[in-house]
Amino acid sequence: MKRRQLLVTLGSALIGLPILGFLIKAIAQSKTPASYDPAAAQSPPNIPKSSKDSQDPKNLADANTEITLETTEEPLLRFAAIADNGFGSPDQMAVAKSMWETYQQKPYAFVLMAGDNIYSYGEIKLAKAYFEEPYAPLLKENVKFYAVLGNHDIIKSNNGLDQINYPLFNMSDRYYSFTKGDVNEGTVEFFAIDTNRNAPWEAQLAWLDQQLGKSTAPWKIVYGHHPLYSSGRHGSDPELASMLEPIFSKHKVTLYLCGHDHGYERFKPINGTTYIVNGGGGAPLYKFTGSPQTAFVSSQFSFMTFDVYQDKIITKAIATDGKVFDRAIVTKI
Ligand SMILES: [Fe+2]
Repeated sequence: MKRRQLLVTLGSALIGLPILGFLIKAIAQSKTPASYDPAAAQSPPNIPKSSKDSQDPKNLADANTEITLETTEEPLLRFAAIADNGFGSPDQMAVAKSMWETYQQKPYAFVLMAGDNIYSYGEIKLAKAYFEEPYAPLLKENVKFYAVLGNHDIIKSNNGLDQINYPLFNMSDRYYSFTKGDVNEGTVEFFAIDTNRNAPWEAQLAWLDQQLGKSTAPWKIVYGHHPLYSSGRHGSDPELASMLEPIFSKHKVTLYLCGHDHGYERFKPINGTTYIVNGGGGAPLYKFTGSPQTAFVSSQFSFMTFDVYQDKIITKAIATDGKVFDRAIVTKI
């Protein structure tokens, strides 16, 4: 980072001290793409206290969860989400198969793809094998995938530009927003963000604050690769949380979806926002310890669907056998 850019950052009243610390760490960790080390890109863990009870399904329900709920009412909008999927493994294929079987029973309109789209270095030449082939049946049905950049996606891809320019990832930029659903009813506005340390943070945070402020959508969902909260290997990221959480809270963001930790963890709402780690898309799984804020945790290969209604969003985590292993109701803040 150039000195002038840092000085501009120092002067930013919007971002303040949290991003300054984040950027100083980014400068200290910055390397040329050629010498980039994926391990170093994975933020140091800040693992919450272990909660063995949270692994027990009997103890996983919270006030925001309705385990037995099933409704025949059709949602206004249904979409799916994956992350950490582009591994080219049998496990990725198993999740992809489950996604296709679920789609055949309950079609979803599109898929959010929350990063690490192509392991290990984001090379776009692998997109055919790691993306187009696993999800071919869905792509054939014109199901669009909306990607963000994970830490693996920026290593040998012109810092992610190759993926941004790849049409099937539907990325208009490093960060972007789009609206889905009926304007008058279940409209959801999605905000896709770049959570990598070398992201253009100052501009991105200003954009996010402004766009969320302008949004009239009843539901606002943000997704990026890195968790703010996680009890997996990488753990929570207090610096990321200090930058994003005030913006989420100010604009009543309903959900933040991410990956990076390979497994599934849903948190009880924090300042009104529900945080979900959904990183079981195909890369090798990590151990999760659970934490006092965890509503449900299970490290398994999986994906998610979301049924959007006027007054609620029903979230489902679905395993490779097609079974729903976590279901929750998210309501408006
Ligand atoms: Fe990652």
